[in-house]
Amino acid sequence: MDRLFLGIETSCDDTACAIFSRERGLVAGRTAEQLDHGLYGGVVPEIASRAHMRTLLPIFESVMEEAGIGLPELGGIGVTQGPGLTGSLLVGLSFAKAISYGSGVPLAGIHHLEGHILANALEGELSFPALFLVVSGGHTQLILAERIGRYRFLGGTRDDAAGEAFDKIGKLLGLPFPGGPSIERAAREGDRAAFGFPRGLRRSGECDFSFSGLKTAVRLKVESLGELTDALVGDVAASAQEAICEVLAEKSLLAARKTGVKRLHLAGGVAANGRLRELMEDMLAPEGIELSWPAVRFCTDNAAMISCAAYYHISAGHRDGLELNTFPRGELVSWA
Ligand code: KG4
Ligand code: ZN
Repeated sequence: MDRLFLGIETSCDDTACAIFSRERGLVAGRTAEQLDHGLYGGVVPEIASRAHMRTLLPIFESVMEEAGIGLPELGGIGVTQGPGLTGSLLVGLSFAKAISYGSGVPLAGIHHLEGHILANALEGELSFPALFLVVSGGHTQLILAERIGRYRFLGGTRDDAAGEAFDKIGKLLGLPFPGGPSIERAAREGDRAAFGFPRGLRRSGECDFSFSGLKTAVRLKVESLGELTDALVGDVAASAQEAICEVLAEKSLLAARKTGVKRLHLAGGVAANGRLRELMEDMLAPEGIELSWPAVRFCTDNAAMISCAAYYHISAGHRDGLELNTFPRGELVSWA
């Protein structure tokens, strides 16, 4: 039977709902970005949760209308439980609990990182074992999945996440928030060999990362350059992007060599980066490692990935009730 699953995502500053079925893929989906945060150079939690309050109901109604269904026709509801901003998560969670309680449709809390991972399963079943490089604003992790629901953490960042490094460097260069897409754009006009920025923990022999030294090196370089012309901004952006993407690709290769797994998927907002994709292909393809990534709109926060995760959780019998709570931090744990 073709069952439809609703996903709700409000962990940070995007309000999103989507409807997924394994047979049909993504049936409907909408994401409302909150543009006000750009004025402050970062996400303001209070503004984010208030915007979710205003936007969630209309977004939900519009995806249900697009799918042409009512609540009783849903096979399940998945909602991002954490990690994320507590106020933002609570809006999505309370809403999901209310519609589940009112309709009797089963509910499952979803870990945001598993959502990013399962963005890779939107267009078809995944093959296992598989490696995932999860790179977002809050996370940089290499994960080995034996199957959906069984995950092993291979390594992660000791300080800043890759996306956080992009965002902080973007701010230092006076580029619009979020830094990732702005740096990628500015880097197109720049020379990636202009500055030799540090590659943290490059030779540690472990699948771990560090990006705080890079951020400091970029700050010192920017201070020493004096007035920042567009050409200089391009050079710093291209050189910093190269430093981040190169270590991400090198450590991914290391994880593949250590585990012998020949399949790697990218996940999370930074996976949208074209230079990262290019470098990963250059380094991994010669070793016969199959590489894939979700479409750009499913790399950054979205609800399609949560609706897809809901399908797997609810089909496996996962059920949550009104006691379901948020968690601001927390590792992805195995559940199958
Ligand atoms: O997955 P995501 O939307 O939210 C979190 O879960 O954090 O990731 C957001 C992060 C931001 O740090 C943003 O700068 C980064 O992803 N990002 C990019 C690109 N697009 C988004 N970083 C590099 N290149 C991009 N094209
Ligand atoms: Zn995310």
